[in-house]
Amino acid sequence: MIQVGLILSIAATVIATFPTKLVYQSPTGLFLENIAVRPCSKLLLTSALSPTLHTLDPNSANTTFDEVYSFPNATALFGIIEYQPDVFAVVTANAQNILQTHRVNLGSVAIWRVDFRSKTPIATRIAGIPQSTLINGLSSVPGHPNLVLAADSNLGVAYEITMSTGAVRIAVQDAAMAPGAPAPALGINGLHIHGSALYFTNSQQGTFARVPIAVESKGVSKAGAVQVLGTVEPSGLPHRYDDFTFDADGRAWVTAHPGALTLLYPLTNGTWAQENAAGDPEGSYAVFMEPTSVVFGRGVNKKIFVCDH
Ligand SMILES: *[C@@H]1O[C@H](CO)[C@@H](O)[C@H](O)[C@H]1NC(C)=O
Ligand SMILES: *[C@@H]1O[C@H](CO)[C@@H](O)[C@H](O)[C@H]1NC(C)=O
Ligand SMILES: *[C@@H]1O[C@H](CO)[C@@H](O)[C@H](O)[C@H]1NC(C)=O
Repeated sequence: MIQVGLILSIAATVIATFPTKLVYQSPTGLFLENIAVRPCSKLLLTSALSPTLHTLDPNSANTTFDEVYSFPNATALFGIIEYQPDVFAVVTANAQNILQTHRVNLGSVAIWRVDFRSKTPIATRIAGIPQSTLINGLSSVPGHPNLVLAADSNLGVAYEITMSTGAVRIAVQDAAMAPGAPAPALGINGLHIHGSALYFTNSQQGTFARVPIAVESKGVSKAGAVQVLGTVEPSGLPHRYDDFTFDADGRAWVTAHPGALTLLYPLTNGTWAQENAAGDPEGSYAVFMEPTSVVFGRGVNKKIFVCDH
């Protein structure tokens, strides 16, 4: 089952779970991997089983799932992030059995720019990451509109891509980002800069963590030790964190397998707590199957869109 769930009326403090509404469900069971929102409020969706970027209008009475662009020489799309107004970075790759192996073909990973500022979107290949066998989430770098960070789930690395030149370098590498177990385990999955830290989930290690960063002329670098802020229950549920997004209050809305959206937030003493925000972390799949990413909608009504597969 695939759905984009929609959570209504997000309050300032959360304790109860939010109601959800199904926005769109793929009739063919397309594996939706990542989600972004355009300034016009339309959503962009990637699939690990399709080379085509899709869009849907969540405000339409009869939502349709429309093709935007099919990337050449690709079978899978992963992270997508808006790094300049209406300009997005997208991860593309070639893969066989991606859902079983969690690996794409060596040499096939590329980062593309999709620019919606003209009437027809313009897609341009920016860089390859030849050593990678899986780039998962992407992050923008606030204040640095030419930089994007990319999470390598197998090598446990956050790369920095300069979107204007195609230069790629390792920004942060840490054991806390590594899979920590033999393949097909996934290490770092989602990553997002908030304030002066890079926050990330590690799927196999079951952690939500942050590392202080500095952004200088040479780019993004680690500026302190990794701090784990949340862990999945060792013997319970949820058992895996996926991608996430921050709200204006500095709280992280984290997709969690099976079947939940988890809110992680700092307490006044600095410790982080977590609450189930939507769905069922016990795995009844009543709302979500295995949600993969999440984004806030644009506009006055606070809605959060959850991409699921
Ligand atoms: C919704 O859109 C689909 C596909 O275009 C169409 O087949 C269907 O009739 C539409 N339904 C309504 C209620 O407009
Ligand atoms: C397609 O990708 C492969 C690597 O997976 C590469 O060797 C080949 O040159 C690419 N072809 C084109 C047309 O880009
Ligand atoms: C912070 O407060 C929470 C809730 O009262 C408590 O469980 C936790 O142990 C506290 N952490 C520290 C470091 O004092």
